[in-house]
Amino acid sequence: MRRPFIAGNWKMHKTVAEAVAFARQLKEMAPCCADRDVLVAPPFTALSAVAEVLRGTGIHAAAQNLHEAPQGAFTGEVSAAMIAEAGCDYVIIGHSERRTLFGEDDALIGRKIVAALGCGLKVIFCIGETLQEREAGLTSAVVERQVKEGLKALRIDDIRHLVIAYEPVWAIGTGKTATPGQAEEVHAFIRSLMGRLYSKDAADALAILYGGSVKPDNMAELMAQPNVDGGLIGGASLDFDSFARMVMYDKKD
Ligand code: PGA
Repeated sequence: MRRPFIAGNWKMHKTVAEAVAFARQLKEMAPCCADRDVLVAPPFTALSAVAEVLRGTGIHAAAQNLHEAPQGAFTGEVSAAMIAEAGCDYVIIGHSERRTLFGEDDALIGRKIVAALGCGLKVIFCIGETLQEREAGLTSAVVERQVKEGLKALRIDDIRHLVIAYEPVWAIGTGKTATPGQAEEVHAFIRSLMGRLYSKDAADALAILYGGSVKPDNMAELMAQPNVDGGLIGGASLDFDSFARMVMYDKKD
């Protein structure tokens, strides 16, 4: 019932020209991607150009962040409506780099999620524990708090517009991937928590992605876990061939 979901988070990489060249290559692959969700999240400057190339292909374009207000005197910020108008259907919210480098807390992330859904955007909601929290045995408690606080305002009908990305902070950009067993354990916990908070049906339909040093070499074993539905991929999504291998993780060359 759940489709594989492969998402590339380009962070602060790629000029408009580079992003468009990648999107054109991705467009060629679109006919092979009908049974899965494929998404790229370019920087704001390249959003509309990438969305334009991908229009009608079924491949999604996402923003990496938004401001929670509809408009206003917020120099340097971008609203949900602006992102939707640029042709995006998704936005990443709560990435650990936003949490740690830009001071975003659970309450702010919750308001951003509400703003995104209000403009018809779907949300990739990122959660995950630090190494210190994992070593202190706090992984479940941290993930539970992030889910409960971040999704506080959401009702059951909102959940179908949501994707959760579990990204242990210690695995992001470090080359240190969670083992498939570690990922599965937390994904299963998140799904059961969503079942308790909303409903079993909503939880069963929810895509839960793993993120943190996903590469072509470890994608298939992560995807083999029953509760791992996809990947949110940073570094290894920047090179087209590498990303294409992960999109087609279950197909032979
Ligand atoms: P990484 O980043 O794949 O480079 O570890 C993942 C992410 O931050 O979404």
